[in-house]
Amino acid sequence: MKDLTPDRSSLDPIEIASRDEIEALQLERLKWSLAHAYANVPHYTRSFDAAGVHPDDLKSLSDLSKFPFTLKSDLRDNYPFGMFAVPREQIVRIHASSGTTGKPTVVGYTAKDIDTWATCVARSMRASGTRPGDMVHVAYGYGLFTGGLGAHYGAEKLGCTVVPVGGGMTARQITLINDFKPSTIMVTPSYALSLLDECRNQGIDPRDTSLDVGIFGAEPWTNAMRREIEEAFDMHAVDIYGLSEVIGPGVANECVETKDGPTIWEDHFFPEIINPETGEPVPDGEMGELVFTSLTKEAFPIIRYRTRDLSRLLLGTARSMRRMEKITGRSDDMIILRGVNVFPTQIEEQLMKVDALAPHFQIELVRDDRMDAMIIHVEACKSGTDQESRNVAAGELAQRIKDVIGITARIVVEEEGQVARSEGKAQRVIDNRPKG
Ligand code: DLL
Repeated sequence: MKDLTPDRSSLDPIEIASRDEIEALQLERLKWSLAHAYANVPHYTRSFDAAGVHPDDLKSLSDLSKFPFTLKSDLRDNYPFGMFAVPREQIVRIHASSGTTGKPTVVGYTAKDIDTWATCVARSMRASGTRPGDMVHVAYGYGLFTGGLGAHYGAEKLGCTVVPVGGGMTARQITLINDFKPSTIMVTPSYALSLLDECRNQGIDPRDTSLDVGIFGAEPWTNAMRREIEEAFDMHAVDIYGLSEVIGPGVANECVETKDGPTIWEDHFFPEIINPETGEPVPDGEMGELVFTSLTKEAFPIIRYRTRDLSRLLLGTARSMRRMEKITGRSDDMIILRGVNVFPTQIEEQLMKVDALAPHFQIELVRDDRMDAMIIHVEACKSGTDQESRNVAAGELAQRIKDVIGITARIVVEEEGQVARSEGKAQRVIDNRPKG
Protein backbone atom coordinates (compact mmCIF):
# COMPACT_ATOMS: atom_id res chain seq x y z
CA MET A 1 0.00 0.00 0.00
CA LYS A 2 1.19 3.50 -0.81
CA ASP A 3 2.18 5.98 1.90
CA LEU A 4 -0.67 8.48 1.57
CA THR A 5 -0.02 10.57 4.69
CA PRO A 6 -1.13 14.07 3.76
CA ASP A 7 1.37 16.88 3.84
CA ARG A 8 1.00 18.90 7.08
CA SER A 9 0.85 22.09 5.01
CA SER A 10 -2.28 20.82 3.24
CA LEU A 11 -4.27 20.52 6.49
CA ASP A 12 -6.67 23.15 7.80
CA PRO A 13 -4.64 24.98 10.49
CA ILE A 14 -7.29 24.22 13.14
CA GLU A 15 -6.73 20.45 12.68
CA ILE A 16 -3.30 20.83 14.25
CA ALA A 17 -3.92 23.89 16.45
CA SER A 18 -3.30 23.75 20.19
CA ARG A 19 -6.03 22.36 22.44
CA ASP A 20 -6.42 25.86 23.94
CA GLU A 21 -7.10 27.32 20.52
CA ILE A 22 -9.57 24.58 19.67
CA GLU A 23 -11.43 24.96 22.96
CA ALA A 24 -11.56 28.75 22.68
CA LEU A 25 -13.12 28.42 19.24
CA GLN A 26 -15.55 25.78 20.50
CA LEU A 27 -16.68 27.99 23.37
CA GLU A 28 -17.28 30.97 21.11
CA ARG A 29 -19.18 28.85 18.59
CA LEU A 30 -21.14 26.96 21.23
CA LYS A 31 -22.45 30.23 22.67
CA TRP A 32 -23.60 31.23 19.21
CA SER A 33 -25.21 27.86 18.49
CA LEU A 34 -27.17 27.73 21.76
CA ALA A 35 -28.38 31.32 21.32
CA HIS A 36 -29.33 30.64 17.70
CA ALA A 37 -31.30 27.49 18.57
CA TYR A 38 -33.02 29.15 21.54
CA ALA A 39 -34.04 32.25 19.58
CA ASN A 40 -35.24 30.50 16.42
CA VAL A 41 -36.52 27.02 17.21
CA PRO A 42 -39.61 26.89 19.46
CA HIS A 43 -38.69 23.38 20.59
CA TYR A 44 -35.39 24.64 22.05
CA THR A 45 -37.04 27.70 23.61
CA ARG A 46 -39.45 25.38 25.39
CA SER A 47 -36.94 22.71 26.37
CA PHE A 48 -34.33 25.20 27.69
CA ASP A 49 -37.05 27.08 29.62
CA ALA A 50 -38.39 23.83 31.06
CA ALA A 51 -34.89 22.89 32.22
CA GLY A 52 -34.39 26.38 33.68
CA VAL A 53 -31.36 27.16 31.52
CA HIS A 54 -30.59 30.05 29.21
CA PRO A 55 -27.84 30.27 26.56
CA ASP A 56 -26.19 33.00 28.73
CA ASP A 57 -25.60 30.35 31.42
CA LEU A 58 -22.89 28.78 29.29
CA LYS A 59 -19.64 30.22 30.61
CA SER A 60 -17.42 27.22 29.95
CA LEU A 61 -17.62 24.12 27.76
CA SER A 62 -18.53 21.96 30.76
CA ASP A 63 -21.68 24.08 31.32
CA LEU A 64 -23.15 22.36 28.28
CA SER A 65 -24.14 19.45 30.53
CA LYS A 66 -26.81 21.73 32.10
CA PHE A 67 -28.69 21.83 28.81
CA PRO A 68 -31.35 19.27 27.88
CA PHE A 69 -30.75 16.46 25.43
CA THR A 70 -32.41 16.25 22.02
CA LEU A 71 -33.87 12.88 21.09
CA LYS A 72 -34.93 11.38 17.81
CA SER A 73 -38.51 11.59 19.11
CA ASP A 74 -38.15 15.39 19.39
CA LEU A 75 -37.36 15.50 15.68
CA ARG A 76 -40.35 13.28 14.90
CA ASP A 77 -42.63 15.40 17.09
CA ASN A 78 -41.62 18.45 15.07
CA TYR A 79 -42.03 16.75 11.69
CA PRO A 80 -41.48 17.91 9.05
CA PHE A 81 -39.87 21.35 9.40
CA GLY A 82 -40.42 22.34 13.04
CA MET A 83 -36.72 22.09 13.98
CA PHE A 84 -35.57 24.50 11.29
CA ALA A 85 -34.04 27.73 12.60
CA VAL A 86 -34.33 29.72 9.37
CA PRO A 87 -37.29 30.44 7.06
CA ARG A 88 -37.97 27.56 4.69
CA GLU A 89 -36.99 29.72 1.70
CA GLN A 90 -33.40 29.82 2.98
CA ILE A 91 -33.17 26.03 3.04
CA VAL A 92 -31.40 24.88 -0.12
CA ARG A 93 -31.48 21.12 0.59
CA ILE A 94 -33.49 18.62 2.57
CA HIS A 95 -32.45 15.10 3.53
CA ALA A 96 -34.32 12.53 5.56
CA SER A 97 -33.40 9.31 7.26
CA SER A 98 -35.75 6.46 6.54
CA GLY A 99 -35.86 5.00 10.04
CA THR A 100 -37.45 1.64 10.59
CA THR A 101 -40.63 2.87 12.19
CA GLY A 102 -42.76 5.98 12.10
CA LYS A 103 -42.07 9.21 10.32
CA PRO A 104 -38.69 9.96 8.78
CA THR A 105 -36.35 12.41 10.44
CA VAL A 106 -36.08 15.49 8.26
CA VAL A 107 -32.99 17.70 8.19
CA GLY A 108 -32.33 20.92 6.26
CA TYR A 109 -29.31 22.94 5.13
CA THR A 110 -28.67 26.54 4.16
CA ALA A 111 -26.18 27.26 1.38
CA LYS A 112 -23.58 27.93 4.08
CA ASP A 113 -24.39 24.61 5.79
CA ILE A 114 -23.84 22.76 2.51
CA ASP A 115 -20.48 24.48 2.25
CA THR A 116 -19.58 23.56 5.85
CA TRP A 117 -20.57 19.96 5.19
CA ALA A 118 -18.55 19.79 1.96
CA THR A 119 -15.57 21.24 3.85
CA CYS A 120 -15.86 18.54 6.53
CA VAL A 121 -16.12 15.76 3.92
CA ALA A 122 -13.22 17.21 1.91
CA ARG A 123 -11.17 17.28 5.11
CA SER A 124 -12.22 13.70 5.82
CA MET A 125 -11.15 12.58 2.36
CA ARG A 126 -7.81 14.32 2.67
CA ALA A 127 -7.29 12.60 6.03
CA SER A 128 -8.07 9.31 4.25
CA GLY A 129 -5.27 9.89 1.76
CA THR A 130 -7.29 11.23 -1.18
CA ARG A 131 -5.77 14.23 -2.92
CA PRO A 132 -6.99 17.00 -5.22
CA GLY A 133 -7.02 15.69 -8.77
CA ASP A 134 -7.82 12.11 -7.71
CA MET A 135 -10.82 10.31 -9.14
CA VAL A 136 -13.47 9.23 -6.63
CA HIS A 137 -16.07 6.51 -7.20
CA VAL A 138 -19.07 7.26 -4.96
CA ALA A 139 -21.13 4.12 -4.32
CA TYR A 140 -23.09 5.48 -1.37
CA GLY A 141 -26.77 5.88 -2.23
CA TYR A 142 -27.88 9.23 -3.65
CA GLY A 143 -31.24 10.67 -2.65
CA LEU A 144 -32.69 11.41 0.76
CA PHE A 145 -29.85 9.42 2.38
CA THR A 146 -26.95 11.79 3.13
CA GLY A 147 -24.23 9.35 1.99
CA GLY A 148 -24.14 9.93 -1.77
CA LEU A 149 -24.60 13.69 -1.99
CA GLY A 150 -22.51 14.26 1.14
CA ALA A 151 -19.56 12.36 -0.35
CA HIS A 152 -20.13 13.98 -3.74
CA TYR A 153 -19.95 17.60 -2.59
CA GLY A 154 -16.94 16.83 -0.40
CA ALA A 155 -15.07 15.22 -3.29
CA GLU A 156 -15.81 18.20 -5.53
CA LYS A 157 -14.70 20.59 -2.81
CA LEU A 158 -11.39 18.75 -2.47
CA GLY A 159 -10.90 19.15 -6.21
CA CYS A 160 -11.48 15.56 -7.28
CA THR A 161 -13.15 14.04 -10.33
CA VAL A 162 -16.36 12.51 -9.00
CA VAL A 163 -18.06 9.46 -10.48
CA PRO A 164 -21.57 9.56 -8.92
CA VAL A 165 -22.50 5.91 -9.27
CA GLY A 166 -24.72 5.44 -6.20
CA GLY A 167 -25.68 2.02 -4.89
CA GLY A 168 -26.64 -1.03 -6.95
CA MET A 169 -25.93 -2.41 -10.43
CA THR A 170 -22.92 -4.16 -8.99
CA ALA A 171 -21.56 -5.56 -12.24
CA ARG A 172 -21.53 -2.11 -13.80
CA GLN A 173 -19.72 -0.68 -10.77
CA ILE A 174 -16.82 -3.04 -11.44
CA THR A 175 -16.77 -2.19 -15.14
CA LEU A 176 -16.56 1.50 -14.26
CA ILE A 177 -13.80 0.96 -11.71
CA ASN A 178 -11.88 -1.12 -14.23
CA ASP A 179 -12.28 1.40 -17.05
CA PHE A 180 -12.12 4.77 -15.23
CA LYS A 181 -9.42 3.81 -12.71
CA PRO A 182 -10.45 5.83 -9.63
CA SER A 183 -7.99 6.04 -6.73
CA THR A 184 -10.73 6.28 -4.11
CA ILE A 185 -13.98 4.50 -3.45
CA MET A 186 -16.60 5.67 -0.96
CA VAL A 187 -19.01 2.90 -0.03
CA THR A 188 -20.48 1.00 2.91
CA PRO A 189 -18.16 -1.79 4.04
CA SER A 190 -20.85 -4.42 3.45
CA TYR A 191 -21.39 -3.27 -0.13
CA ALA A 192 -17.61 -3.26 -0.62
CA LEU A 193 -17.75 -7.01 0.04
CA SER A 194 -20.38 -7.43 -2.69
CA LEU A 195 -18.12 -5.45 -5.05
CA LEU A 196 -15.25 -7.70 -4.09
CA ASP A 197 -17.22 -10.82 -5.03
CA GLU A 198 -18.28 -9.26 -8.31
CA CYS A 199 -14.72 -8.32 -9.13
CA ARG A 200 -13.68 -11.95 -8.75
CA ASN A 201 -16.72 -13.11 -10.75
CA GLN A 202 -15.52 -10.96 -13.62
CA GLY A 203 -12.09 -12.54 -13.39
CA ILE A 204 -10.47 -9.34 -12.17
CA ASP A 205 -7.95 -9.56 -9.34
CA PRO A 206 -9.13 -6.83 -6.93
CA ARG A 207 -5.49 -6.15 -6.03
CA ASP A 208 -4.91 -5.10 -9.64
CA THR A 209 -7.56 -2.37 -9.57
CA SER A 210 -6.52 1.28 -9.36
CA LEU A 211 -8.01 1.70 -5.88
CA ASP A 212 -5.65 3.07 -3.22
CA VAL A 213 -8.20 4.20 -0.64
CA GLY A 214 -11.63 3.05 0.51
CA ILE A 215 -13.63 5.41 2.75
CA PHE A 216 -16.10 3.20 4.57
CA GLY A 217 -18.94 4.12 6.88
CA ALA A 218 -22.68 4.39 7.51
CA GLU A 219 -22.62 1.11 9.46
CA PRO A 220 -20.42 -0.55 12.06
CA TRP A 221 -17.44 -2.58 10.83
CA THR A 222 -14.53 -4.11 12.67
CA ASN A 223 -10.77 -3.87 12.42
CA ALA A 224 -10.89 -7.53 11.36
CA MET A 225 -13.02 -6.48 8.38
CA ARG A 226 -10.55 -3.66 7.70
CA ARG A 227 -7.70 -6.18 7.41
CA GLU A 228 -9.79 -8.40 5.12
CA ILE A 229 -10.66 -5.51 2.77
CA GLU A 230 -7.17 -4.02 2.78
CA GLU A 231 -5.63 -7.36 1.95
CA ALA A 232 -8.18 -8.18 -0.75
CA PHE A 233 -7.93 -4.85 -2.59
CA ASP A 234 -4.40 -3.86 -1.61
CA MET A 235 -5.72 -0.46 -0.50
CA HIS A 236 -6.13 1.58 2.68
CA ALA A 237 -9.50 1.17 4.37
CA VAL A 238 -10.47 4.10 6.61
CA ASP A 239 -13.53 4.81 8.68
CA ILE A 240 -15.88 7.75 8.04
CA TYR A 241 -18.56 8.48 10.62
CA GLY A 242 -21.59 10.71 10.59
CA LEU A 243 -25.32 10.92 10.94
CA SER A 244 -27.97 12.97 9.18
CA GLU A 245 -29.14 14.72 12.33
CA VAL A 246 -25.65 16.11 12.95
CA ILE A 247 -24.85 16.86 9.26
CA GLY A 248 -24.31 13.56 7.40
CA PRO A 249 -21.02 11.78 6.64
CA GLY A 250 -17.91 13.69 7.71
CA VAL A 251 -18.58 14.37 11.39
CA ALA A 252 -15.43 12.34 12.05
CA ASN A 253 -12.91 10.47 9.91
CA GLU A 254 -9.89 8.32 10.45
CA CYS A 255 -6.44 9.52 9.48
CA VAL A 256 -4.75 7.14 7.06
CA GLU A 257 -1.42 7.39 8.85
CA THR A 258 -2.79 6.05 12.15
CA LYS A 259 -6.14 4.28 11.48
CA ASP A 260 -6.89 4.44 15.16
CA GLY A 261 -10.50 5.59 15.23
CA PRO A 262 -12.17 8.59 13.57
CA THR A 263 -10.89 12.08 14.43
CA ILE A 264 -13.88 14.24 15.31
CA TRP A 265 -13.95 17.56 13.45
CA GLU A 266 -14.31 19.33 16.76
CA ASP A 267 -14.41 22.83 15.29
CA HIS A 268 -17.90 22.01 13.94
CA PHE A 269 -19.25 19.27 16.22
CA PHE A 270 -18.85 19.18 19.98
CA PRO A 271 -18.79 15.60 21.30
CA GLU A 272 -19.72 14.26 24.72
CA ILE A 273 -20.01 10.74 26.04
CA ILE A 274 -22.77 10.08 28.52
CA ASN A 275 -23.85 7.18 30.63
CA PRO A 276 -26.92 6.05 28.65
CA GLU A 277 -28.80 5.11 31.81
CA THR A 278 -28.23 8.22 33.92
CA GLY A 279 -27.53 10.79 31.19
CA GLU A 280 -24.47 11.97 33.16
CA PRO A 281 -21.36 12.88 31.14
CA VAL A 282 -18.48 10.44 31.65
CA PRO A 283 -14.78 11.38 31.41
CA ASP A 284 -12.81 10.95 28.18
CA GLY A 285 -11.69 7.36 27.75
CA GLU A 286 -14.85 5.87 29.23
CA MET A 287 -17.39 3.99 27.17
CA GLY A 288 -20.89 5.36 26.73
CA GLU A 289 -23.33 6.97 24.31
CA LEU A 290 -22.07 9.61 21.90
CA VAL A 291 -23.83 12.98 22.08
CA PHE A 292 -23.20 15.79 19.60
CA THR A 293 -23.89 19.51 19.54
CA SER A 294 -23.47 21.39 16.28
CA LEU A 295 -21.32 24.52 16.53
CA THR A 296 -21.82 26.17 13.16
CA LYS A 297 -25.01 24.86 11.55
CA GLU A 298 -27.57 27.48 10.59
CA ALA A 299 -30.66 25.68 9.31
CA PHE A 300 -30.75 22.81 11.73
CA PRO A 301 -28.83 23.52 14.93
CA ILE A 302 -28.75 20.39 17.04
CA ILE A 303 -28.12 20.56 20.76
CA ARG A 304 -26.88 17.52 22.72
CA TYR A 305 -28.28 14.98 20.28
CA ARG A 306 -28.31 11.45 21.65
CA THR A 307 -26.95 9.31 18.82
CA ARG A 308 -27.44 5.86 20.48
CA ASP A 309 -23.97 5.05 19.12
CA LEU A 310 -21.60 3.54 21.66
CA SER A 311 -18.00 4.72 21.73
CA ARG A 312 -15.44 6.55 23.85
CA LEU A 313 -13.50 9.77 23.39
CA LEU A 314 -9.74 9.44 22.97
CA LEU A 315 -6.89 11.93 22.80
CA GLY A 316 -5.82 13.16 19.39
CA THR A 317 -2.88 11.45 17.67
CA ALA A 318 -2.44 12.46 14.02
CA ARG A 319 -4.40 15.67 14.76
CA SER A 320 -4.98 17.77 17.90
CA MET A 321 -8.68 17.04 17.73
CA ARG A 322 -10.04 14.15 19.79
CA ARG A 323 -10.85 10.79 18.33
CA MET A 324 -13.77 8.46 18.92
CA GLU A 325 -13.20 4.77 19.20
CA LYS A 326 -14.46 2.84 16.17
CA ILE A 327 -18.14 2.22 16.90
CA THR A 328 -18.96 -1.14 18.44
CA GLY A 329 -22.64 -0.74 17.68
CA ARG A 330 -25.78 1.18 18.41
CA SER A 331 -27.62 0.55 21.64
CA ASP A 332 -30.62 -0.29 19.37
CA ASP A 333 -28.62 -3.09 17.69
CA MET A 334 -27.67 -4.81 20.89
CA ILE A 335 -29.05 -8.34 21.09
CA ILE A 336 -29.70 -9.72 24.54
CA LEU A 337 -29.49 -13.48 24.27
CA ARG A 338 -30.20 -15.37 27.46
CA GLY A 339 -28.81 -12.51 29.50
CA VAL A 340 -25.68 -11.89 27.40
CA ASN A 341 -25.34 -8.63 25.45
CA VAL A 342 -24.13 -9.20 21.90
CA PHE A 343 -23.38 -6.79 19.05
CA PRO A 344 -23.25 -7.98 15.43
CA THR A 345 -19.67 -6.60 15.24
CA GLN A 346 -18.60 -9.20 17.81
CA ILE A 347 -19.90 -11.94 15.51
CA GLU A 348 -18.15 -10.30 12.55
CA GLU A 349 -14.86 -10.30 14.43
CA GLN A 350 -15.01 -14.05 15.07
CA LEU A 351 -16.23 -14.85 11.55
CA MET A 352 -13.20 -13.09 10.07
CA LYS A 353 -10.95 -15.48 11.96
CA VAL A 354 -12.36 -18.56 10.21
CA ASP A 355 -10.46 -18.79 6.94
CA ALA A 356 -12.87 -21.23 5.29
CA LEU A 357 -15.84 -18.82 5.67
CA ALA A 358 -16.66 -15.79 3.53
CA PRO A 359 -17.17 -12.43 5.32
CA HIS A 360 -20.92 -12.25 4.55
CA PHE A 361 -23.25 -12.95 7.47
CA GLN A 362 -26.73 -12.42 8.78
CA ILE A 363 -28.02 -13.12 12.26
CA GLU A 364 -31.47 -14.63 12.69
CA LEU A 365 -33.18 -14.63 16.06
CA VAL A 366 -35.72 -17.38 16.67
CA ARG A 367 -37.51 -18.88 19.63
CA ASP A 368 -36.93 -22.59 20.35
CA ASP A 369 -38.91 -24.13 23.20
CA ARG A 370 -39.64 -20.74 24.71
CA MET A 371 -35.93 -19.85 24.69
CA ASP A 372 -34.40 -17.30 22.36
CA ALA A 373 -31.81 -18.72 19.99
CA MET A 374 -29.39 -17.26 17.46
CA ILE A 375 -28.78 -18.70 14.02
CA ILE A 376 -25.89 -17.23 12.06
CA HIS A 377 -26.10 -17.61 8.30
CA VAL A 378 -22.70 -17.66 6.62
CA GLU A 379 -21.14 -18.94 3.40
CA ALA A 380 -18.10 -21.02 2.58
CA CYS A 381 -15.28 -19.11 0.88
CA LYS A 382 -15.16 -21.44 -2.06
CA SER A 383 -18.19 -22.80 -3.88
CA GLY A 384 -18.39 -26.56 -4.02
CA THR A 385 -16.97 -26.96 -0.50
CA ASP A 386 -17.98 -30.45 0.73
CA GLN A 387 -20.28 -30.99 3.68
CA GLU A 388 -17.49 -32.26 5.90
CA SER A 389 -15.43 -29.07 5.48
CA ARG A 390 -18.53 -26.92 6.02
CA ASN A 391 -19.23 -28.71 9.26
CA VAL A 392 -15.68 -28.16 10.43
CA ALA A 393 -15.86 -24.43 9.60
CA ALA A 394 -19.26 -24.10 11.30
CA GLY A 395 -17.91 -25.89 14.36
CA GLU A 396 -14.90 -23.60 14.53
CA LEU A 397 -17.06 -20.46 14.37
CA ALA A 398 -19.51 -21.80 16.97
CA GLN A 399 -16.60 -22.60 19.29
CA ARG A 400 -15.01 -19.17 18.90
CA ILE A 401 -18.34 -17.49 19.61
CA LYS A 402 -18.85 -19.68 22.66
CA ASP A 403 -15.34 -19.02 23.99
CA VAL A 404 -15.10 -15.29 23.31
CA ILE A 405 -18.69 -14.00 23.50
CA GLY A 406 -20.10 -16.67 25.76
CA ILE A 407 -23.18 -17.62 23.76
CA THR A 408 -24.26 -20.70 21.88
CA ALA A 409 -25.16 -19.97 18.27
CA ARG A 410 -26.27 -22.31 15.54
CA ILE A 411 -24.21 -21.81 12.38
CA VAL A 412 -25.73 -22.50 8.98
CA VAL A 413 -23.28 -22.57 6.08
CA GLU A 414 -25.35 -21.54 3.07
CA GLU A 415 -24.68 -21.95 -0.63
CA GLU A 416 -22.70 -19.15 -2.23
CA GLY A 417 -24.86 -16.06 -2.72
CA GLN A 418 -27.56 -17.22 -0.31
CA VAL A 419 -26.74 -14.75 2.46
CA ALA A 420 -28.48 -11.47 1.60
CA ARG A 421 -26.08 -9.00 -0.05
CA SER A 422 -26.15 -5.34 0.81
CA GLU A 423 -26.16 -2.44 -1.62
CA GLY A 424 -26.02 0.09 1.20
CA LYS A 425 -26.40 -0.41 4.91
CA ALA A 426 -26.45 -4.13 5.70
CA GLN A 427 -29.32 -5.58 7.66
CA ARG A 428 -27.39 -7.72 10.10
CA VAL A 429 -30.22 -8.95 12.30
CA ILE A 430 -33.52 -10.56 11.29
CA ASP A 431 -35.81 -11.04 14.26
CA ASN A 432 -38.10 -14.00 13.64
CA ARG A 433 -39.15 -14.41 17.25
CA PRO A 434 -42.90 -14.37 17.79
CA LYS A 435 -44.08 -10.86 18.64
CA GLY A 436 -45.53 -9.97 22.02
O1 DLL B 1 -25.15 6.88 7.66
C1 DLL B 1 -24.25 9.07 7.24
C2 DLL B 1 -23.06 8.45 6.59
C3 DLL B 1 -23.08 8.19 5.23
C4 DLL B 1 -21.93 8.18 7.33
C5 DLL B 1 -21.97 7.65 4.63
C6 DLL B 1 -20.82 7.64 6.73
C7 DLL B 1 -20.84 7.37 5.38
P1 DLL B 1 -27.66 8.05 8.84
O2 DLL B 1 -28.32 7.31 7.77
O3 DLL B 1 -28.40 9.14 9.54
O4 DLL B 1 -26.36 8.73 8.31
O5 DLL B 1 -27.17 6.97 9.90
C8 DLL B 1 -26.39 7.36 10.99
O6 DLL B 1 -25.24 5.22 11.00
O7 DLL B 1 -25.80 6.98 14.05
C9 DLL B 1 -24.40 5.16 13.19
O8 DLL B 1 -25.25 4.30 13.94
C10 DLL B 1 -24.25 4.61 11.79
N1 DLL B 1 -22.92 4.95 11.29
C11 DLL B 1 -22.58 5.94 10.45
N2 DLL B 1 -21.24 5.91 10.20
C12 DLL B 1 -20.75 4.87 10.93
C13 DLL B 1 -19.45 4.31 11.11
C14 DLL B 1 -25.26 8.09 7.74
N3 DLL B 1 -18.37 4.79 10.48
C15 DLL B 1 -26.00 6.15 11.79
N4 DLL B 1 -19.33 3.26 11.96
C16 DLL B 1 -25.08 6.49 12.95
C17 DLL B 1 -20.41 2.76 12.59
C18 DLL B 1 -21.81 4.27 11.62
N5 DLL B 1 -21.64 3.22 12.44
